[in-house]
Amino acid sequence: MDFNLTEQQLMMQKLFREVAQNEVKENAADVDENERFPKESVEVMRQAKMLGIPYSREYGGAGADYLCYILAIEELSKTCATSGVVLSAHTSLGTWPIAQFGTEEQKQRFLTDLCTGKKLAAFGLTEPNAGTDAAGQQTTAVLDGDEYVINGTKIFITNAGEADVYVIFAMTDKTKGTRGISAFILEKGTPGFTFGLHEKKLGIRGSATCELIFNNVRIPKENLLGKEGMGFKIAMQTLDGGRIGIAAQALGIAQGAIDEAVAYVKQRKQFGRPIAKFQNTQFQLADMQTKTDAARWLVYSAATAKQEGRPYTQLAAEAKLFAAETAMEVTTKAIQLLGGYGYTRDLPVERMFRDAKITEIYEGTSEVQRMVISGAMLK
Ligand code: CAA
Repeated sequence: MDFNLTEQQLMMQKLFREVAQNEVKENAADVDENERFPKESVEVMRQAKMLGIPYSREYGGAGADYLCYILAIEELSKTCATSGVVLSAHTSLGTWPIAQFGTEEQKQRFLTDLCTGKKLAAFGLTEPNAGTDAAGQQTTAVLDGDEYVINGTKIFITNAGEADVYVIFAMTDKTKGTRGISAFILEKGTPGFTFGLHEKKLGIRGSATCELIFNNVRIPKENLLGKEGMGFKIAMQTLDGGRIGIAAQALGIAQGAIDEAVAYVKQRKQFGRPIAKFQNTQFQLADMQTKTDAARWLVYSAATAKQEGRPYTQLAAEAKLFAAETAMEVTTKAIQLLGGYGYTRDLPVERMFRDAKITEIYEGTSEVQRMVISGAMLK
């Protein structure tokens, strides 16, 4: 499918594809099987300057556009969806709010290390009682002299423990609802900041998903991101961009499963001929690719809208909703085409099927995306 990618986008897509196919793919099964964080992928990304793709060169980024970054997640996720989400959580969720809302001093302190990949980032919004209802934050931050004192717990935090820098959200004024939530930058190693339960998951099993525990964590008041009370809007705007990243992850998973299925049906023989010769196989593949191309169009459109400064909240939600549901449908069909072999761990499609499911859940469930889309339609 041709989206009229620019020369730079085509060049970067080629580079990301080579990185993913030649250096990330080989570890994907092991990362999944042993539920281990893909340190090699992060190192490869660091060397290929993939950890700051859409950020200014002034801060160590690649100075490329948002679609280039989205192409990177897509290519990684074709082979290793765990590596895809490490990049997405780092770039969209942990780094973007600092680049967007940080003071010059905060950018100097944090952004350059994040863009060059010296440090990894994460985002702490979800709590045991504040998942879809993100406004129900119970973590508190109280100003005490020149420091904020933070208490509370976050759960399901991607890159937790592996990341060095965390953008987290806490209530600074419980009487003000969403306008009482503030955003903070927190560093690993700060006294009182520890990591709890490491989740065992169905898919993206190498991605670190862990609790953040804040027990009287004291941070300088200079670590407030934006102004007090801006936290909810910072979180929502960050998620608008993050959702395009997860949509790209879903897109990559779907295309990866199609690529595996096409290779398989050409060589697998039944009834004396390759199963690619049967019309059922052909029609299944046609439906899988059509949906995936439609998802790609939405994902690239959302990325382009963000890059061009057009509104993208609704488009990002549509891209994530459609790409996530497409990834589930396509990976289910891919297993069916591969039959018994597809159900085993000898082939990567069962992993892709398990990895696809989370794209319908994190950074806003499909139901949340429907709320966002219909909310914009009915405004
Ligand atoms: N951009 C800017 N501002 C926004 C906004 C957006 N996209 N969405 C809402 N706001 C603003 C509203 O304008 C409103 O502002 P005012 O106070 O000035 O009027 C304020 O925020 C409150 O808005 P709502 O009343 O619409 O908020 P709500 O409480 O009804 O929530 C929701 C709406 C869409 C359900 C939201 O809570 C939501 O997106 N929930 C899902 C949370 C989520 O995605 N969590 C994922 C966690 S992170 C993760 O998964 C990371 C990972 O592991 C990879």
